[in-house]
Amino acid sequence: MVVKLVLLLVSSLCASSALSHTKQKHPDVGLNAKQVIQKYGYPLEVHFIETEDGYILEYHRIPHGKNNAVGGHPVLLMPGLLSNSADFLTLGPGLSLGYILADEGYDVWLANYRGSRWSKKHKTLDVVVNKKEFFDISFQEIGLYDITASIDYILNTTGYKKLFYIGHSQGTTCMFALLAAKPEYNDKIVLMTALAPIAYTTHVNYLMFLFTKHFLTEMQQFSEAHGIYEFFPYSPLLTELGQILCNDDVGTQPLCEAMFYFFGGYSSNLNKTVIPVILSNTPSGCTLRMMYHLVQIALSGQFQMYDFGEQENLIRYGQVSPPKLDLTQITAPVELYYADQDPVSTVKDVELLAADLPNIVKKQFMNGYNHLDYLWSLNVESVLYSHIIQSIKNYST
Ligand SMILES: *[C@@H]1O[C@H](CO)[C@@H](O)[C@H](O)[C@H]1NC(C)=O
Ligand SMILES: *[C@@H]1O[C@H](CO)[C@@H](O)[C@H](O)[C@H]1NC(C)=O
Repeated sequence: MVVKLVLLLVSSLCASSALSHTKQKHPDVGLNAKQVIQKYGYPLEVHFIETEDGYILEYHRIPHGKNNAVGGHPVLLMPGLLSNSADFLTLGPGLSLGYILADEGYDVWLANYRGSRWSKKHKTLDVVVNKKEFFDISFQEIGLYDITASIDYILNTTGYKKLFYIGHSQGTTCMFALLAAKPEYNDKIVLMTALAPIAYTTHVNYLMFLFTKHFLTEMQQFSEAHGIYEFFPYSPLLTELGQILCNDDVGTQPLCEAMFYFFGGYSSNLNKTVIPVILSNTPSGCTLRMMYHLVQIALSGQFQMYDFGEQENLIRYGQVSPPKLDLTQITAPVELYYADQDPVSTVKDVELLAADLPNIVKKQFMNGYNHLDYLWSLNVESVLYSHIIQSIKNYST
C-alpha cells in the first residue's frame, strides 16, 4: 500500500517534472540575492560585518540605483524569521522594495541575521562542531549585537549620522529590543518602518505557535536532549521541489499556495508566479530558541529577554527573572503597518504594542493582508511600498 502510494507520488512528480520542463521556467529560479542584483544590472557590494561577540554577518548592499552615480541616505532592511536578503528582491525591479529604494536613490543594506543562510560564520565557533553555542540565538542577540554592529558599520562606512530602518516580522522585534535596551541607539534612527510588527504575542493564533505554547517545556527538553538547535535551514532541495511542484500551469501549485497560507495566514494577494523563486532562497534557517522566546512572551504577557531558568538568568543577567524590555524607551519615530489576516502579528497584539510606543508617527491598517503579503503580494508596490517611500522621502528632507 505504502509502496504503491510512493510509486504514485514519484510517477506524478516525474510527470509534472516533464510537464514543467516543457513549460516556461521562471528565470529567477535558483538565483540568490547576489545573483539577482547583478542579473538586473544593479551595483552589488558584499559586506562582512563582525559583531562584538564574534559572529560574521554577510550583508548585501545595493549602494545606489542604476541611474545614480552615488547613493543617498542608507536604509537597513531586516528580514523576519526564516527569511533572508533575497526576500526583499523576489518580485524583481519596480516591484520589490530593495530595488525600489535603490531606484529612488537610497543606499540599500540587506541584512542577514546570525544563524541564517549567509551568516553562519564566527571568529572562533564552528557552526557544526559548536552548534549549541553558535545557535544560542533569539531576537535579543540579533538586536543587541547584530543590529548595533550593523548600524555602527553602516554609519561609519557612509558618513551619515542616522539611517532608516525597515523590518519585517521578527525583523521588528529585534529592533524594538535594541531600542528598549540601549536607548542611545534611538538617535541613530531617522525612522523605523515596522511591517507586521511583533512585540507582544499574547494573541498569536498560529498552529505551530499554539502547539509550542502548550508543550514548551517538553519541546525545550526534547531539543536539548537531541542537540537540535537550528530550524528549517536553507536547502537546495526546496529549489528543486519548488520548480517541479509550484510553477504556474502545474497542477500541484495550489498545494504550494496552501503551504504559504499555512505559514502566513490566508490571503488573496499572493503572487503565485514567484513561489518557485521564493523557495529558491527561503526558508533560510532560524533557531528553535527564537520560537521559544516568542512563546515565553506570550506566556508571561511581558516583552522581555529570554528566560534561561533562574540559575542561568542569574549568571547571564545578574537576576533570577529575565529583564523586561521597556518599549516606552523607544523615542525614534516608528511607523506600524499591520493587518487583519495576519495570525502572527495580530491586530490585538499590535494595539498593545502601540499603547507602549511613545513616538508612533503612522499606524496603517492593511486590509486583507496576511503575514507574508508585505513581501510577495500582487499589489504590494501600490498599496504599501509607495507609501513607505513617501514617508522616507518626507523624513529625508
Ligand atoms: C570606523 O572607521 C574607522 C576608520 O575608518 C575604523 O578605525 C573603525 O574601527 C570603524 N568602526 C567601526 C565600528 O566599523
Ligand atoms: C508577479 O511577479 C512577477 C515576477 O515573477 C512579475 O513579473 C509580475 O508582474 C507580478 N505580478 C504583479 C501583478 O505584480
